[in-house]
Amino acid sequence: MTEPAFIHDSANEAHSNKAKGPRVRPAPVIAVDGPAASGKGTIARALARRFDLPHMDTGMLYRAVALNLWRWGGDPAHEFEALKACDVAAVDPEDPELRSEVVGGIASRVSAYPAVRAALLDRQREFAAQPGGAVLDGRDIGTVICPDADAKLYVTASAEVRAERRLGELAARGMKVHLDDVLIDIKARDERDAGREVAPLAKAEDADLLDTSAMSVEEAVAAAILLVEKRLAKI
Ligand code: CDP
Repeated sequence: MTEPAFIHDSANEAHSNKAKGPRVRPAPVIAVDGPAASGKGTIARALARRFDLPHMDTGMLYRAVALNLWRWGGDPAHEFEALKACDVAAVDPEDPELRSEVVGGIASRVSAYPAVRAALLDRQREFAAQPGGAVLDGRDIGTVICPDADAKLYVTASAEVRAERRLGELAARGMKVHLDDVLIDIKARDERDAGREVAPLAKAEDADLLDTSAMSVEEAVAAAILLVEKRLAKI
């Protein structure tokens, strides 16, 4: 395996005569946040590959709670019932139902509960604190989970573009839905995620904004890598 580019700091080495060897940077933590279907998952996975870091899709934790609750027949309107569904380790990460729109909708409801967020906090912070660094994507990574992340991206796109993308993903999985319905769902999800009191979806002040509305996947990934490289060059 080749050495990740961020470890060897030749620029710093050149101007530091006293240095006995190259400065070894600590492995970075990269936070990627954004609304539904903004492309943050694809970008986070690409960053993890590029910088050779482990990746956590934190949305899957909330989806796992939602799936547990749904399978038990629990009521998402009750925080107490949602809290009982927080045993996310019991969920098979490969369960195809995790990615369904029903589960995504329930996830966005249960994720508004402070008790649910608190129950999932340690798992995320521990993942971020591992010595090898990490990439995490979600809604509150740069603001709450990893406020000291070395690089933060807030990935967004217009609701219409995101609805088109989500439609494409669903079609690829053989699901037939109308664009209008997907758009309504995306907007409702945005409102719930940004409007909740605890850890709302928000751009951290020190995050770089990446609007992917007019970008292809390749362009968005390339832009994200550039932004992160710039940030990591400063640590
Ligand atoms: O893929 P998509 O953007 O549709 O959703 P996701 O990232 O899998 O997250 C599902 C739901 O979990 C979101 O609508 C959020 O309400 C919630 N979530 C959250 O509150 N905080 C996170 N860090 C990640 C997800």
